Amino acid sequence: MASPIDGGNVLITGASSGIGREMARQIAPRAKALVLVARRTERLEELKSEFAQKHTNLKVLVQPCDLTDQAAIDTLLETVLGELGTIDVLVNNAGFGDLQIFDKAAWDKLDRMIRLNINALTYLTHKLVPAMVERKSGGIINVSSSFGMSFLPGFSVYIGTKHFVNGFCDALVCDLAGTGVRVTCVCPGPVKTEFNEVAQDAIRLPNPAPMEISAERCARESIAAFDAGKARVVPGTVMKIMMFMEAMTPDAFFRSLYGMQGKIMRKKAIERGV
Ligand SMILES: NC(=O)c1ccc[n+]([C@@H]2O[C@H](COP(=O)([O-])OP(=O)(O)OC[C@H]3O[C@@H](n4cnc5c(N)ncnc54)[C@H](OP(=O)(O)O)[C@@H]3O)[C@@H](O)[C@H]2O)c1
Repeated sequence: MASPIDGGNVLITGASSGIGREMARQIAPRAKALVLVARRTERLEELKSEFAQKHTNLKVLVQPCDLTDQAAIDTLLETVLGELGTIDVLVNNAGFGDLQIFDKAAWDKLDRMIRLNINALTYLTHKLVPAMVERKSGGIINVSSSFGMSFLPGFSVYIGTKHFVNGFCDALVCDLAGTGVRVTCVCPGPVKTEFNEVAQDAIRLPNPAPMEISAERCARESIAAFDAGKARVVPGTVMKIMMFMEAMTPDAFFRSLYGMQGKIMRKKAIERGV
């Protein structure tokens, strides 16, 4: 079946940076219209100018929006649907993490994370999927994380949000079976983006170099999986192997291993006063 990206209207959240910006760059030559959503308008305008030179037939809508605000999402959708009529592909990519032991984390940041990583993703999907089902075509790319399939200390709420996304995607694939609407859950390991800067690594995770891939590669493998109608993709060879091995190992083993790591992290965090 042809990919709904080709000749379609595609809305990408978190298009101002990292994986979302690369997805926009790779989708631009194929789509009819691109809706770029994030808070940093100037970054989105830069991307629009880049596309104006390369893809003269592409319509680009820059839509600044804080997705933690549901009323702002309503306004965004009203504007976009008023302008384009339909959205064929929704890329729920915007998200952030917080690298801190749970009891030391700031509630305000956790609250915003839950509202962005879970509420905005689910709300946008709920608003846009019915018309896709009616048209018997379209699709959703939900950018989750390898943490949607695993866990580690120092990341509890972020990991909880990504487990939600994975569970949601798996069940949604079943809900939408036979409708012509596809869903792909993207589960990357470390990707070179602004993610760690935003997560503020208070507990200092080890260097992810062996597993780390570029945002360009992550976007490329994610889009290829969506085109192929795959329900889940783990971009990057090392992460694919690691996630396979992790799935073969009982969770109890990791709870005990990571429990020891958690004790060390807490001790170091206390020593550094964070
Ligand atoms: N990088 C990694 O190692 C990694 C690994 C696994 C999964 N992921 C997932 O990949 C996705 C993209 O992250 P990234 O690595 O590309 O990080 P990034 O470079 O920090 O990009 C995050 C994007 O989300 C947008 N965003 C953040 N808060 C927002 C808000 N309240 N409203 C609207 N947009 C908002 C940001 O735009 P503005 O700041 O302009 O609003 C930015 O465009 C996330 O869901 C993340 O959880 C990343």
